[in-house]
Amino acid sequence: MKAPLRSKIFRIISQQAALKKVRAFVIGGYVRDYILKRPSTDIDIVVEGNGMEVAAAVASVLNVPVTRFKNFGTARIQYRGLDIEFVGARKESYRSDSRKPVVEDGTVEDDQKRRDFTINAMAFSLQEEDYGILTDPFNGLEDLKNRLIRTPLDPDTTFSDDPLRMIRAIRFAAQLEFSLEKEAFSSIVRNTSRLEIVSQERITAELQKIMATGKPSRGLVLMEESGLLARIIPQLSLLKGVETMDGKGHKENFAHTMEVLDNVAYRSDNIWLRWAALLHDVGKPSTKHFDREAGWTFHGHDYVGSKMIPSIFRKLKLPLGEEMKYVQKLVQLHLRPIALVNEVSDSGVRRLLFDAGEDIEDLMMLCRADITSKNPKTVRRHLENFEIVSKKLVEVEEKDAIRNFQPPISGEVIMKTFGLSPCREVGLIKDYIKEAILDGKIGNNFGEAWEMMLQRAAELGISEAGA
Ligand code: CTP
Repeated sequence: MKAPLRSKIFRIISQQAALKKVRAFVIGGYVRDYILKRPSTDIDIVVEGNGMEVAAAVASVLNVPVTRFKNFGTARIQYRGLDIEFVGARKESYRSDSRKPVVEDGTVEDDQKRRDFTINAMAFSLQEEDYGILTDPFNGLEDLKNRLIRTPLDPDTTFSDDPLRMIRAIRFAAQLEFSLEKEAFSSIVRNTSRLEIVSQERITAELQKIMATGKPSRGLVLMEESGLLARIIPQLSLLKGVETMDGKGHKENFAHTMEVLDNVAYRSDNIWLRWAALLHDVGKPSTKHFDREAGWTFHGHDYVGSKMIPSIFRKLKLPLGEEMKYVQKLVQLHLRPIALVNEVSDSGVRRLLFDAGEDIEDLMMLCRADITSKNPKTVRRHLENFEIVSKKLVEVEEKDAIRNFQPPISGEVIMKTFGLSPCREVGLIKDYIKEAILDGKIGNNFGEAWEMMLQRAAELGISEAGA
């Protein structure tokens, strides 16, 4: 195979490498994506010799700065939206007790051997005599055609060089919709404990890429089956399995979670909504209970689950700010819309709107995604109920505008009216007015709220200032 590599950048790299009398190649993800016709702006160049020197020469021709990463022996330049990274060809291995690699200079063939997968180990030559010719010592092209993730060396060796590759294998399988070679999969099963030497940040970056794929369950199921998930998010592995009592089994909660996650992913790219779907039932294993009359119950799993989110986020080194609060909120509220079905009262709907606020649409999407069952009739019935609640939400929101609820009477007004400094009573009056509005006892307006304030203050023995 021969790629034309017409872009000016490749010509310049080729010329500068020739001037320095070293061989240079385009390698890795760019080559893979080029063959797959996937657009890519990250270009990796491997140089048999000093990658930094070639990078500096190219940067000076293009008149752009060069960033050197001395620790990694790499240099990067950015040019017209392209990110070009230069590295010297290396032989590299990791000792089993350390994450620090032992690195020596090598040829491009050496470099290809130490790469993660055959489809990532292909290179295009940048030498004048064979410009654009594919170097493919491990039949990566064949694997691309067969849609197969395979390691160039024995998978135990490739994974041992960098155990993160076990998750990368699954990530690429999920992202490209490829399958994982059997030997590679068995090697992952054998080597899950090696993940210990990998930093959480790198693991989570791969996990996020799996979560961002069109059908995240593809990656997560492979993670679960290989034993990796139990090491990374054990709370999810605990959802597996069905217990039976008196001949009654409960829903298989891992498979259900995967379905909910895919349902959400099908409709939304919002990565945190996807996390909420992934974690919405994590409270189930610890709240599971069998009752002879009611059968299996998971009372309070919404609350318990939401309380588990911070420790999961902390362990995964996911952001602990707004993103985490959002996931927590959706996990906590995920049963609320459907619970309204039994009694779709205005006040219940108003309370849900108040609690969900801006996130009501996302919550409804999660809630709809949560309707799964093997029985199509059950699904249809739940969906019909869901539609009733959805309609009611729109009606009540149009009428009462609760979503961005701002109390019509502020704490300041209460203090001024009664000549109070900040104190418990101010809060009591304010809450009373809020509850009355949510319950529909009064409208969401200043006049009715003012009357209610006076009435409640009188009950508390507080009189107007100057009265
Ligand atoms: N690589 C590797 N082992 C790793 C990480 C990367 O061998 N643990 C090699 C692969 O050859 C890979 C290249 O480095 O193609 C670039 O890595 P990276 O940018 O992480 O991945 P890409 O293949 O470019 O894919 P993506 O852009 O989707 O991350």
